[in-house]
Amino acid sequence: MAAQGLHVPREYRRGGKANDEDNSVESGVELIDLMCRRLELPDLGNSAVLDFGCGVKLVQAILADELPLGRYTGIDVFPEQISFLRENVEDARFEFHALNLHNEMYNPEGEPLSAATQLPVPEASMDIICLFSVFTHLAPHDYVAMLKMLRRYIKPDGRLIFSLFLYETTPGGLGFIDHVSRHLKPTEEQIANWQGPPDFRDWDPQQPLKWAVYSREHALRLVQGSGWQIESLNDPEPSIQHYMICRPVLT
Ligand SMILES: C[S@@+](CC[C@H](N)C(=O)[O-])C[C@H]1O[C@@H](n2cnc3c(N)ncnc32)[C@H](O)[C@@H]1O
Repeated sequence: MAAQGLHVPREYRRGGKANDEDNSVESGVELIDLMCRRLELPDLGNSAVLDFGCGVKLVQAILADELPLGRYTGIDVFPEQISFLRENVEDARFEFHALNLHNEMYNPEGEPLSAATQLPVPEASMDIICLFSVFTHLAPHDYVAMLKMLRRYIKPDGRLIFSLFLYETTPGGLGFIDHVSRHLKPTEEQIANWQGPPDFRDWDPQQPLKWAVYSREHALRLVQGSGWQIESLNDPEPSIQHYMICRPVLT
């Protein structure tokens, strides 16, 4: 199945599964399945989808499995990858755009993201805005700016879905903190002095924003005033970390 539709050279693939293309495409299929399930859609056949920080995974999944699709707009800060997609995806339902936005991990020389950042698509035109493994690399100021900026592009009945790292263990054991806590051996003093998770922690400052981890409270608080209302904040599943689903606040 995987990667039959579009093979993407290794240098244009990013993220945890970048070294295994088949596995990456399979996880793209799973993410689309999860998105449809959680948004209560039979498929993406009637949806205009904005995939922000798109990478290549969802495009490969849609093409490999010939999944129904209305329209797909992929935006990323990786210009060579966007050029590759433009040159190799000959399907009028897809469009791709590169933006030179700052991200400490992926594009440190880029321009600051702000609530006023303009995207090359019409406002209020998207049914679904998705960001998979993007907020997982966002500092708090970008978390807020991203939400405010994206709000302008959603239709009134559209939905936003994004994954993030939360600073908590979960019953299923599939989250980032579940993973690292299996290797941590806190001292009794550390346990006694534990005051709860920090609002935000850049987990490994040597690798800035590789793991941007938020407390649940802060992740929820940062959505307030951004133009979105939270529909759900969900535990990790095999194909995804914690993820939030939001609707636009209608004024
Ligand atoms: C871990 S990869 C995930 C890619 C894809 N969403 C997936 O699930 O396979 C993170 C992506 O977000 C992009 N990115 C990071 N910061 C961004 C920003 N501020 N705006 C747009 N894209 C960004 C990176 O270039 C990279 O392609």
